[in-house]
Amino acid sequence: MTEYVIYGNRPLKGEVSISGAKNAAVAIIPAALLVNGKSRIDNIPEISDVSLMLDILRRVGADVRLINRSCVEIDCSNIYTTKAPYDLARMIRASYYMLGAMLGRFRSAQVALPGGCDLGVRPIDQHIKGFKALGANVDVQSGFVTAEAPDGLCGTSVYLDIVSVGATINIMLAAVLAEGMTVIENAAKEPHIVDVANFLNSMGANIIGAGTDVIKIRGVKKMTGGCYTIIPDQIEAGTYMAAAAAATGEVLIKNIIPKHLECITAKLTEMGVEITEYDDSLLVRSRLPFTKTNIKTLPYPGFPTDMQPQAAVLLCLAEGTSMITEGVWENRYRYVDELKRMGAQIQVDGKVAVIEGVKKLLGAPVRACDLRAGAALVVAGLAADGVTEVEDVSHIERGYENIVEKLSRLGAQITRMQMPDGKALAKAR
Ligand code: EPZ
Repeated sequence: MTEYVIYGNRPLKGEVSISGAKNAAVAIIPAALLVNGKSRIDNIPEISDVSLMLDILRRVGADVRLINRSCVEIDCSNIYTTKAPYDLARMIRASYYMLGAMLGRFRSAQVALPGGCDLGVRPIDQHIKGFKALGANVDVQSGFVTAEAPDGLCGTSVYLDIVSVGATINIMLAAVLAEGMTVIENAAKEPHIVDVANFLNSMGANIIGAGTDVIKIRGVKKMTGGCYTIIPDQIEAGTYMAAAAAATGEVLIKNIIPKHLECITAKLTEMGVEITEYDDSLLVRSRLPFTKTNIKTLPYPGFPTDMQPQAAVLLCLAEGTSMITEGVWENRYRYVDELKRMGAQIQVDGKVAVIEGVKKLLGAPVRACDLRAGAALVVAGLAADGVTEVEDVSHIERGYENIVEKLSRLGAQITRMQMPDGKALAKAR
């Protein structure tokens, strides 16, 4: 087991550069399957979810070549199966993009029902609704989704009953090579939706409206490979904003698109964090305590659910009582019991968390139960008095590139430790 040991209550100071967006990368990598040739993708984050997606592509026959740490070339000329490998696909939610991409190019796909963070029920009915509307037969059996369209896919209109990032992207992937025009209504508008559409357009697709709630995809006969650079990660940037605020000090968050962060900047400003915006960076300065603030998570451009746990840590350090309402996932408060071990006062009732601010958080051994929960515990550890040990950091490393190095360069005292078996066993007991 690997853990982070954090000696907290030290101001962060300096600059941090944000990596490529995880949730764009894990969609753009399978999107490369739509081309019978090579695509070069730059600004890929070095995280385990990306390695997994690249391995899935290798296992279906793609030739994946790392040009350097953040650039990859994917050649999909020799794909020999439309079945994603079960052992890998079940480990990562984004493996469901193999369905849209394979169906789009080969008219056939089979993928295990996806895994990923446990955030409550995670249905994919809207993805399936879209594939069926395009003319595919879709069958879910024994843990696998199989989609077949022997007569080809035909452009159509799909109204999403729920604003879904995954369904919006998956339907775009399936529709780019379909016959005629597909219209997705009530589409998600997240920055990575636009990034995937831009990637597809750079390869010859014809998509307009990405970033609005109506996306129109005119099917093309063929797409060709190209070069594309992924956008910076909105949530990684937001997490460093929260870390800089919680640990006080002064941090310049570089290589970002400030527009993508407006929903986060607005709430942090309401809490009393001082944020100065530049063309492609933000300067974050803060002093404790924060001002109590209410937050409701919503699809973009609302406050992102993927920043909810990190924001909760800041509200623990606010004067008075704040309220969070989770508007996207069923179960995104599993980190609360861990934060309580650090002295947080939080009551959860269904989708609402009521947070009573405390003067200080105190270091404690805690466990990362999912990616953003883990990031929030790191933020809490940086602000807390004493030592925080965050266990199960593999969750964190699914989505944050070099987090220990990046925080250390800002002056944090954080170490990545491989725990000896004995200690891990003792803790397990
Ligand atoms: C994406 O998940 C992200 N993952 C998540 O990020 C993020 O939390 C989420 O979007 C919301 O922003 C990736 O991009 C790989 P959804 P996704 O489909 O696409 C319901 C992180 O920490 N729904 O937008 O799976 C669903 O249950 C992760 O980086 C249906 O009911 O999310 C949820 O309540 C975790 N039917 C809501 O919609 C469907 O067919 C939004 O889900 C699909 C979704």
